[in-house]
Amino acid sequence: MAKHLNIAVLPGDGIGPEITHEAVRVLKRISEQGHFGLTLEEAPVGGAGYRASGHPLPAATLALAKKADAILFGSVGDFSLDTLPRELRPEQAILGLRKELQLFANLRPAMIYPELAGASTLKPEVVSGMDIMIIRELTGDIYFGKPRGIRLLENGEREGFDTMIYRESEIRRIAHVAFQAAEKRGRKVCSVDKANVLETTQLWREVVTEVGKQYPAIELSHMYVDNAAMQLLKNPKQFDVMVTGNMFGDILSDEASMLTGSIGMLPSASLDANNKGLYEPIHGSAPDIAGKNLANPLATILSAAMMLRYSFGLAQAADVMEAAVRKTLASGVATGDIYREGCTRVGTKEMGDAVLSALG
Ligand code: IPM
Ligand code: MG
Repeated sequence: MAKHLNIAVLPGDGIGPEITHEAVRVLKRISEQGHFGLTLEEAPVGGAGYRASGHPLPAATLALAKKADAILFGSVGDFSLDTLPRELRPEQAILGLRKELQLFANLRPAMIYPELAGASTLKPEVVSGMDIMIIRELTGDIYFGKPRGIRLLENGEREGFDTMIYRESEIRRIAHVAFQAAEKRGRKVCSVDKANVLETTQLWREVVTEVGKQYPAIELSHMYVDNAAMQLLKNPKQFDVMVTGNMFGDILSDEASMLTGSIGMLPSASLDANNKGLYEPIHGSAPDIAGKNLANPLATILSAAMMLRYSFGLAQAADVMEAAVRKTLASGVATGDIYREGCTRVGTKEMGDAVLSALG
């Protein structure tokens, strides 16, 4: 009998509802084609959560996310709520979900589709063929470290402070994820740190090196984050798997996304120790284009494909979905962010339609 998937859909803010809508249509079609049964339950999150019930991660939304087998997440962020106290801002929803569900392993593939090699701001020969998997630790580091705050000094001046912190066990488990990912790919791991300056990342380097001894077939290298930022622009094809902490991973994954032409193409998976996961595009809520049928839904559709692959072991259904996206790109339809000369410019919904028709 086909597997039955219980998926929580959290559209969020800005373009979130439009792009998740398209991904849901694609999931439903694949389900109808007999790959799996599907139950979808939707709940507000982020600014939408705050407006619905006074908190960016309403208790009912968190309960739904905990109960579901996997979560499809749109995006959160709403400038009009940025004046709220930090704990009520929309971004707290995604941070809260990551922490509450212990989604420590963030997989952010940055690969280039042949059709989009010209859409990158880098020369096509520098980027074409690149295929990087950034593995970002997601529940530790300066994002969650305590103490943190803004305090008043005796001289009346204010001082802001945060704590960068990693335990050995946290480093070890993300290192294993990286080495195991590399085993299925190009067998190279580059660990990114700032061990020349920061103690936390000196420990990071030591622990990753130790774990690496258990994976003799994988070539391990280490790079300082500033150099990694440079090397990504200089020669991105040197990388296979990159593993790094929460904050460096946040920054490097945005940088890597631009090499691919558009941040609107990049999916992500955030997994716990049992491969339960939250799947979201790596881009934000893009309030400037929200509700205008302009956003590219492909990153969200590709996130749904990652869900099938990583949380449900449905590799074949994931392949079908990813092939439909490639076919759609090759057919020459494009949202504004990936528009190239000779393409037909389409909106969010039409892009979803095109993926559906590529699915047959
Ligand atoms: C991301 C985002 C988030 C982060 C924000 C929205 C809190 O930039 O998923 O990369 O910083 O992790
Ligand atoms: Mg980010």
